[in-house]
Amino acid sequence: MTDRLSLLDSGTGTPLVLLHAFPLAARMWQRQLAELPGPDGTRARVLAPDLRGFGGAPQGDEAPSLDLLADDVARLLDRAGVERAVVGGLSMGGYVAMAFARRHGDRLSGLLLADTKATPDTGQARDNRERIARAVLARDSVQLLLDEQLPHPQLSAVTARERPEVVRQVRELMAQASPAAVAWAQRAMAARGDSLEVLAQVAVPALVVVGEEDAITPLADARAMTEVLADAELHTIPGAGHLTALEDPAAFNAAARSLLARTAAEPGTPPQG
Ligand code: MLT
Repeated sequence: MTDRLSLLDSGTGTPLVLLHAFPLAARMWQRQLAELPGPDGTRARVLAPDLRGFGGAPQGDEAPSLDLLADDVARLLDRAGVERAVVGGLSMGGYVAMAFARRHGDRLSGLLLADTKATPDTGQARDNRERIARAVLARDSVQLLLDEQLPHPQLSAVTARERPEVVRQVRELMAQASPAAVAWAQRAMAARGDSLEVLAQVAVPALVVVGEEDAITPLADARAMTEVLADAELHTIPGAGHLTALEDPAAFNAAARSLLARTAAEPGTPPQG
């Protein structure tokens, strides 16, 4: 199979792969690509792929599966000449990061899990995903998602009230998602299993980030992941909802930088330019 991911790549140093949320695209990481400082103060190297079907990346015809996305990320690292990386993701991106940890754990030098959870869907959540998948395909439109998800439950009350540019940006990103990609990703997420045992095997430094007002993957989910990881720090971001990296990029970047510093201090972390 050919590469399915398109890529935004910036900066130098230990590579940090950032995997986007549903139903957004790599462009959600603009402020991380442009501003995230590495441990030495220069701009960190951030690799932000568009996952299949999103941001113009080809969908392919494989059945929906987050494992497939994790394998896409491994191929992307091959293509970029990166052996090991800090891999992070927000929400759906976090699910993919956990699938990557399970399937390609030897390539991880750190793990960043933002506004995500390690537990699988309940039956009700699965049914809701199938309802959305069918509706967007039948209507050939993702308007339903905009109506049901913005500003709440995606964004905090503070963001909805005081950060109109963030609301606008998320609305634009969501509106650009294709119905086929939305349906594929909903079905892939519905099929995911429990990742708590995977996290229990992760020995590299980890960071768990959560918006204090995250209504989709709240603090309890973040705590559950932090507790099973061997070397994890939990960072909560006040005033942010589910999309911390967009709602408070400065706070998100400071937390991510602290993870890069921890991974750089690990013995055996290869310097990469
Ligand atoms: C996301 O932001 O990626 C979604 O909320 C994930 C999900 O639907 O579980």
